[in-house]
Amino acid sequence: MRRILLDADTGIDDSIALLYALKSKNIHLEGITTCFGNSGAAQSADNCLRLIKLAGCSYEIPVVAGAECSLEGVYASAPAHIHGDNGIGNVVLPESGQKPLEEDAADFIIRRAKELEGELILVTTGRLTNLAKALAKDPHLPRRVKRLVVMGGALDVFGNVSPFAEANIAGDAKAADQVFRAGFPMTLVGLDVTMKTFITRQNLEDLEKYCKEENRPIVEYMKQALSFYFEFHRKSMGLVEASVVHDPLAMLIAEDATLGEYRMIYAGVEYQAPAYEGMIVKEDTIPQDGRQEAIAACIRVDSHKAVRRLFSVF
Ligand code: RIB
Ligand code: CA
Repeated sequence: MRRILLDADTGIDDSIALLYALKSKNIHLEGITTCFGNSGAAQSADNCLRLIKLAGCSYEIPVVAGAECSLEGVYASAPAHIHGDNGIGNVVLPESGQKPLEEDAADFIIRRAKELEGELILVTTGRLTNLAKALAKDPHLPRRVKRLVVMGGALDVFGNVSPFAEANIAGDAKAADQVFRAGFPMTLVGLDVTMKTFITRQNLEDLEKYCKEENRPIVEYMKQALSFYFEFHRKSMGLVEASVVHDPLAMLIAEDATLGEYRMIYAGVEYQAPAYEGMIVKEDTIPQDGRQEAIAACIRVDSHKAVRRLFSVF
């Protein structure tokens, strides 16, 4: 059983990652923290609560709203053309009776890591601001968790917010740099693999036919939200009734690392030179700053297997 804390900027693809985690028999969600990005952190928390309700989850998952801006106090407006005005493609899900926990997100991450005594897997699908704040409060955090899986970055491919940078990393490059250099047992799931993995309208039509009856409302939600997302992919990439798969891939890899192949790297993130902000900077030699762990950067993935598995839980 993977015991996962998700940190998300819930977002259409974040929402699919969350629904997968809620439905996979191999995952127990230990909590959710949210961050600004695809929507505000408070909106993201509300989205998560509604999605948990939609999934009819049998156990309570604490949800904590986190950073509303970067470490430097910057908040770029949410990309409504990608994720809609509410982050989940303008789909209005029924409200949840559950309220977000009134706890600082960084404190919550540290507390859950301590409580789970080395068993916690952190999965981030947004900016790394909450995690950087947690690190500042507890520099031992990297040794308290089993693994950190980050959706973000572009190594050997172009970025999606600049030629050099991916949105989650560029959105708070300073926070990302701190996390990359902290010595977490870390897996990076970046555009190198997420841009080569696709979901299509056909997948959704198949799902409609073969899904479990209890999951029909989830499938209906995914159809609506992904229609919005497909439209963005049509306009920006020329994809027809399809999208790439960012955040769900990170969740799938957190559950089963054998879906990917990895290159071990030591790296930081550029955060000072504006033109290169968010670029991952690889280091050629083992750093002398006491870092224990190299980062496992995912360079190839079995996309067919990943997508099959993604939809198999519904
Ligand atoms: O670059 C893709 C990432 O940015 C995904 O996590 C998406 O949800 C947005 O946060
Ligand atoms: Ca995201």
